[in-house]
Amino acid sequence: MDSDIKIRRAKVGDVQQVVALINSYAEKGEMLYRSQSQVLQQVRNYFVAASPEPNSGSDGSSGETVLACGSLDITWNDLAELRSLAVSDKAQGKGLGTLVVEALMNDAVELGLKHVFALTYKPHFFERLGFRIIDKQQLPHKVWSICIDCLKFPVCDEVAIQIDVEEWARRQAAAEAKVADRH
Ligand SMILES: CC(C)(COP(=O)(O)OP(=O)(O)OC[C@H]1O[C@@H](n2cnc3c(N)ncnc32)[C@H](O)[C@@H]1OP(=O)(O)O)[C@@H](O)C(=O)NCCC(=O)NCCS
Repeated sequence: MDSDIKIRRAKVGDVQQVVALINSYAEKGEMLYRSQSQVLQQVRNYFVAASPEPNSGSDGSSGETVLACGSLDITWNDLAELRSLAVSDKAQGKGLGTLVVEALMNDAVELGLKHVFALTYKPHFFERLGFRIIDKQQLPHKVWSICIDCLKFPVCDEVAIQIDVEEWARRQAAAEAKVADRH
């Protein structure tokens, strides 16, 4: 990854680019649409990968280019949903999707959450990060109340995946220890 690219919490000035990025995939049926007001209201839940190069396609209010985004929305008690993960076409395959998931999962650790789930068309991307495919019926009813607002309801073809947050923290600690051993 280009060392100038930073993974950080989203700012209000990123919202326009985040919406454009998510909706570029929504147009292809790969993600769900998000409105500017939805993202603005939930902006505290988002992390972005931002390049210092100014963005030409928007008002550029954050002064940077948003290359990837993702959010962590608390669903109920100690359960959260990882949503709106997207990497711009030109930045795919460089590890940014993984880094955004890592930032969101580290946030889940700090928040004291127990489980994080996602509904996705890309289960294999998440499986390499330790998520496991689960039966959608295992998710609480609260999730289905949100689904009612989805254009695809009730014919949902997304796959449910979930990870235990403590297990994630153990995997991260083991990976960091391996890196430290090498130095
Ligand atoms: C899926 C997505 C987020 C991956 O982001 P990315 O930055 O390209 O992925 P990374 O570079 O971090 O990929 C890391 C690894 O995942 C693998 N990978 C990437 N996309 C994958 C996919 N769709 N299925 C399986 N593996 C995938 C890569 O091959 C790579 O493996 P490696 O490290 O063994 O070489 C990105 O392709 C994307 O934005 N897709 C369109 C929107 C979307 O589908 N979002 C998910 C909605 S929940």
